[in-house]
Parts: sequence; C-alpha cells; structure tokens
Amino acid sequence: MSQWQKWFACLLFVAVVSLVLLHLRVTAGQTESDAENLKRAAERIAETARTKFAPVYPALAKQIIEDTGVKEGICIDLGTGAGALGIALAKAGNFKVYAVDINPFAVAIAQKNAVEAEVSDRFFPMLGNALDLPFKDNFADLVVSRGMIPFIEDKAAVFREAYRVLKKGGAAYIGGGFSRMLDEETVVKIVKEAWGDPQKLPVHRVPREVWEEQIKKAGIKNYRIIEDCYPSGVYGIWIMFKKQ
Ligand SMILES: C[S@@+](CC[C@H](N)C(=O)[O-])C[C@H]1O[C@@H](n2cnc3c(N)ncnc32)[C@H](O)[C@@H]1O
Repeated sequence: MSQWQKWFACLLFVAVVSLVLLHLRVTAGQTESDAENLKRAAERIAETARTKFAPVYPALAKQIIEDTGVKEGICIDLGTGAGALGIALAKAGNFKVYAVDINPFAVAIAQKNAVEAEVSDRFFPMLGNALDLPFKDNFADLVVSRGMIPFIEDKAAVFREAYRVLKKGGAAYIGGGFSRMLDEETVVKIVKEAWGDPQKLPVHRVPREVWEEQIKKAGIKNYRIIEDCYPSGVYGIWIMFKKQ
C-alpha cells in the first residue's frame, strides 16, 4: 500500500467513526426529546384536569352512570390521562377501575392522583393501547373514554376493542367534551378559558357523520349518539353502546 493509500484509508476510517458517533448522538437526543414531549403532554393534561376541568369529571361520572345504568363492576377508562374520570367513577359507583394510557408519564401521574384521592384500592392505572387492549374478551361492565377519540385516526378500532372486552349487557360511553350535568355558564366559562372560541372544542373537529361511519365500520349496530346540547351550542358528544 502506498503512503497516499494509507493516508486515505486512515481518513476514511475517521470519517466513518465520526458519522456513526454523530448518528448515535442524534438518535439518543431524539429519544430524550420524545420522552420530554410525552412528559410535558402528561403534565399539561394533569394541570388542566386539576384546575379548569375539575368540575367536569364528577358531573360526567354521574351522567355516565345515569345514561348506562351501570353502577358497579369492572370499569376501563381509555386514555385516562391524569386519571380524573376513572377516579370520579371509582368514587361515584362501586367500581374496580383499570385506567389505561399510552403515555407512561400519564400513568405515573394517575397513580399519584389515586393515592391522593384515596382510591388506590380500586383504581389501577396501567400502560396500554386503546387499539389493542391488554384484557380478555367479556371482561368489563363499563368502558369509558373522554377526550381521547378525537385524536385517534382509526376510531372504529377503538370501538371494536371496547366491544370485545365488554361483558354481555355491559356498556361503553366514549367521546369528548363536558357534561350536561353542568350548567351552561360553567361549561362556556371552561371552554372559553381552554380554547378561547367554543367552536375550537376538539369534539367539534369530528362531525357527527364521522362518529356514525366509524361505529358502523366497527360492526356495532345498536348505539346511541348523545349530545350535550345547550342553547349556545353542543359541548359534549358521546357514543353509547351495549354488548348484546
Ligand atoms: C386529551 S387527553 C384526555 C385525558 C383524560 N381522559 C381526561 O379527560 O382528562 C387524551 C389522552 O389519551 C391518551 N391516548 C392517546 N392515544 C391513546 C391510545 N391509543 N391508547 C391509550 N391512550 C391514548 C393520551 O396519552 C392522553 O393522556
């Protein structure tokens, strides 16, 4: 090998090693920032649930129990976030609640909130995906979800999974928004504080036809769409179905 070839081989080696190191640094950086984003998202959801949205969850838990007629047994809360709805149901009914979220930081916050709310004997946060639930068929009496479905592309898959894990006679209540058990003034105040314009409410980004199309795609025939209507607008949309 000539002197020039040796120099060239040496330079090539240094360049390849530098590129590999650079790639490892960038990948590690990305992983770090992904985790940072998930942490921030979980903290933001928890802060909103603790403050602006605080009146929503007990009211919605009452509405769900009244509309479904299910007040005891196994409940699954999909996309639980800080656990607020699941915790409200654990207090309002005689439920053992499994609270599923895809974000590990949300699961940790929900666990902490359960201890503070003194329901950790019947409220169990866990990591999981609503599109592929870690439960056997015919397991739950009630499946609920607030605020997750507007952000999921394949809504039919969520409805199908909810139906699969429900016991015969069990009910699902899935959607977004607030609760008709709250007075209009309170709802409008919360919506304005959170989004400025009530029409920016995430559930408004999903038209009723899409809910209908997705529930039919899931093969569920008997369902009800419940809209929380007020004179100034609709501030909650829910799909309720029972397993036959
Ligand atoms: C807008 S937050 C609502 C949180 C909570 N339900 C509430 O009402 O305060 C939506 C939550 O759904 C979770 N999520 C999104 N996609 C999910 C999936 N495929 N499976 C489980 N959780 C999911 C997010 O991590 C987030 O915590």
